[in-house]
Amino acid sequence: MQLIHTIVDLQKELLRNRAQQKAIGFVPTMGALHQGHLELVKRSVAENGVSIVSIFVNPTQFNDKNDLLKYPRTLDVDCHLLQTIDCDYVFAPSVEEIYPEPDERQFEFGALANVMEGQFRPGHFNGVAQIVSRLFDIVKPDKAYFGEKDFQQLAIIRELVKQLNLNVQIVACPIVREKEGLALSSRNARLTENQRKEALLISKTLFESKKRWKEFPVQALKQWVIHEINAASELQTEYFDIVDGFTLQSIENWEDTEYPVGCAAVFAGEVRLIDNISYL
Ligand code: PAF
Repeated sequence: MQLIHTIVDLQKELLRNRAQQKAIGFVPTMGALHQGHLELVKRSVAENGVSIVSIFVNPTQFNDKNDLLKYPRTLDVDCHLLQTIDCDYVFAPSVEEIYPEPDERQFEFGALANVMEGQFRPGHFNGVAQIVSRLFDIVKPDKAYFGEKDFQQLAIIRELVKQLNLNVQIVACPIVREKEGLALSSRNARLTENQRKEALLISKTLFESKKRWKEFPVQALKQWVIHEINAASELQTEYFDIVDGFTLQSIENWEDTEYPVGCAAVFAGEVRLIDNISYL
């Protein structure tokens, strides 16, 4: 496995691999890798001739400076993990390498970006679109792998690919959870012992809501989920919404969609966690 820091060096390698007709798999990350990321990489390794993982904590997608500062940076450990699963290249550029000048581009994702995360993290998806489009332009992957935990991000990236007419297949991979259900996230490392214990209630409540969804009208189920989660002393639900899985718009009745998905953002102390569940 090779660790590369510059676009020029990466593109030299990509050129060599393309000349050998190798399909290019790409997993963009912000590092602090966990098993969820590794599953994306394993899939890329299985499906492509060559796999690249980018590790870049993208400043333009953080609307909260504190969150950016506290984001864990663990390049050495990340590289070690990636080596064990046969990743070919790690691309870990500096901020100056990616943004030699400020990226002023404004993307327009309409209703997809205005709800849920978009409502509570203004500018976040514009930043995600800036970095993902920039990385796609550098790597020009055949396939790119994203986790379903970031459900809204996945919808935005599909829309980005459509708008920019990019020739990349977006592969969605299922949420990876700890044994007790907590969705894996780089932010979990920041939870105190008690917050970690209480955070299990998020997935537990979502799973329970899936068992009982037909018994409740949509609004009542939403309220029940929020009430259950907020019962824990250190948890505070920022939102829980049940949306159409394609448009991400809130539904009023179960009949409004064939693909209902419940999406939650919950603070465990200062740590913001997201999770979701499909009611299909
Ligand atoms: O999901 C993430 O880790 C980031 O949003 C991404 C896609 C790597 C862009 O910085």
